Amino acid sequence: MSLQLYHNARIFSPIDTGKPSSGINQGSLKHYQQGALLVGNGIIEKIGPEADILKDLNRNDLNSDIDCGGKCLIPGFVDPHTHCCFARLREEEFEQRISGTPYLEILKQGGGILSSVKAVSEASVDELYTNTLKHVAKATSLGTTSMEIKSGYGLTTANELKMLEAIARVAANSPLDIVATFLGAHAIPPQFKGAPDDFITLLIEESIPAVKAQNIANFCDIFCEEGVFSIEQGRRLLTAARAAGMGVKIHADEVHDLGGAALAAEVKAISADHLLAAGNENIKAMAKAGVIANLLPATAYSLRKPYARARSMINLNVPVALATDCNPGSSYTESMQFVFGLAVLNMEMSTSEALTAVTLNPAYSLGLAETTGSLDVGKQADFLLLDGESPAILAYHSGVSSVAEVYKKGVKVSG
Ligand code: NIG
Ligand code: FE
Repeated sequence: MSLQLYHNARIFSPIDTGKPSSGINQGSLKHYQQGALLVGNGIIEKIGPEADILKDLNRNDLNSDIDCGGKCLIPGFVDPHTHCCFARLREEEFEQRISGTPYLEILKQGGGILSSVKAVSEASVDELYTNTLKHVAKATSLGTTSMEIKSGYGLTTANELKMLEAIARVAANSPLDIVATFLGAHAIPPQFKGAPDDFITLLIEESIPAVKAQNIANFCDIFCEEGVFSIEQGRRLLTAARAAGMGVKIHADEVHDLGGAALAAEVKAISADHLLAAGNENIKAMAKAGVIANLLPATAYSLRKPYARARSMINLNVPVALATDCNPGSSYTESMQFVFGLAVLNMEMSTSEALTAVTLNPAYSLGLAETTGSLDVGKQADFLLLDGESPAILAYHSGVSSVAEVYKKGVKVSG
């Protein structure tokens, strides 16, 4: 048994009560000002005030005994929404966007997601694997210890499987827990222009069975938006995915309020993501159905849109999670710290609510909460040491990384 002690740490963690944290609970944390963490074989054995942990510990049994120097210790970040498997950046499109061309207009002209689709069609699995691993390594160095990665730049069964294969290889070769999501319905491919229903039929009849046969994705997602897929198409696809045994997620109400949040409630999606334009009635439906809101403030920042109404969502009892949305179009960042800062400074979230939103709630939205997302006995020792005394440092010290060290299953993976 390998036994490690981390002491003299200011520990902060969400409280896992067996379900996503919502309402008033989202901001309640456990906190030990002079805390210690005992890790055995990568699993948390004990956590609490240092004096209590040291009382019945024989320090000769330890393989390492680490003084954290009063640094803040929090769970590793869980990023529940990324598109970081792609072949090429879109810097020229960024220039177009900042000089005024709307994001959806670029897509309409055959660029945007469709330009990433072209690049993926020309890339090998090896190239996709190497590129994706680079983004995962960057995210790791910034404190992410678990993440979701979507396909969605394939749009044919073969190219979607190529992306999912690259993601599976990343999962096998990275220390992080990686969850794959099948996003075959990310855009209407040119060969189905004007016939999105036929494309949905293809996804249901050919792609989902192929993805299931290889057991290569945990979730199915769809981009419901004006000019992309309708709510009815979302309903058809996600109902079929559910029937095939997949969990479901929705890119909902990102630019227009089509009712994606209500659909998420209806099909019992594990999360509805984006929600910049979601209306109150639909938010209430999400709360009732227990759907997690994955909010992506770096996308609002990059698209220069108003932020999602996190305060209303928390007040209405929707569990709120935060994600990077890391992708080459609407949000090119691997940094959960950046997302944390945006949420605290622009979305009226307290630092405690934001901490739950970057750790425990996203772990629930990926089905990972049994093993990660909070510092609890029996969970993996996935944690960070920060260059600061509290999680506030993540928002307060902006534009830099405040993550000093990153541990996954008790092993230092960065810092
Ligand atoms: O979550 N909204 C759709 N998909 C991504 C953007 C993908 C891209 O532009 O490449 C998003 O914002
Ligand atoms: Fe997205």
